[in-house]
Amino acid sequence: MRRKMAAGNWKMNGAQAGLSVLDGLIASHAESPCDIVICPPHPLLIPATTRCAGGPVAIGAQDCHAEAKGAFTGDVSAGMIADTGAGYVIVGHSERREAYGDTDAQVQAKAVAAQSNGLIAIVCLGESLSQREAGEALPLITAQLAGSVPEASTAATLVVAYEPIWAIGTGKIPTLAQIAEVHAKLRAELVARFGAETGEAIRLLYGGSVKPDNAANIFATANVDGALVGGASLKAEDFSPIIHALEKS
Ligand code: PGA
Repeated sequence: MRRKMAAGNWKMNGAQAGLSVLDGLIASHAESPCDIVICPPHPLLIPATTRCAGGPVAIGAQDCHAEAKGAFTGDVSAGMIADTGAGYVIVGHSERREAYGDTDAQVQAKAVAAQSNGLIAIVCLGESLSQREAGEALPLITAQLAGSVPEASTAATLVVAYEPIWAIGTGKIPTLAQIAEVHAKLRAELVARFGAETGEAIRLLYGGSVKPDNAANIFATANVDGALVGGASLKAEDFSPIIHALEKS
């Protein structure tokens, strides 16, 4: 049985004054059977972990550097993230791959750094609209998975998020059949690489325009173990119904 996960990616949004969102989630999901994770910008990691200590909401970061320390102006290492009390880090988000040129090898190195520092790496992958229309979605995703996921991953240190780029922030989502097809492929690849026990236990999230009104159908899809949510994770009144849908699924 894979424990379900609802992860919120705040991207470059939020401020200390807005952390009361977390109180709403903590109050509504005190006995949640799911893992609930919020990934705020780096300056909010310490106030967020402090506010969420001992409760049902865990905190993650949105990216990390692969190196432990050094002359990397503006970057933050996985060890620094772990030191805030956070338990997760997103790596390989398409916004990093596109705007900063993160390659599969760099994403893998970041995920290795995350796992070596006791963080769970949420490794993102997904195709663009032109790649989908050209019939390249499955081969691309397979290559991204092979190149981005660390060799030593286990179900306790890795979560994979399928995020079609054309569905992020657009209000468009793939058909449930398309989501099922990609997730089945990811599952098969994980089983082939890590063996049945680990491959079946690694969680697969869907991300891209998950909203309260489409969440239940997405969560009913085979091999979807939860969601990585952007815009709808910014307010408890949007994210909480998504978590409730996951709890009921
Ligand atoms: P969205 O973003 O839910 O706003 O589409 C998802 C993501 O980028 O993780």
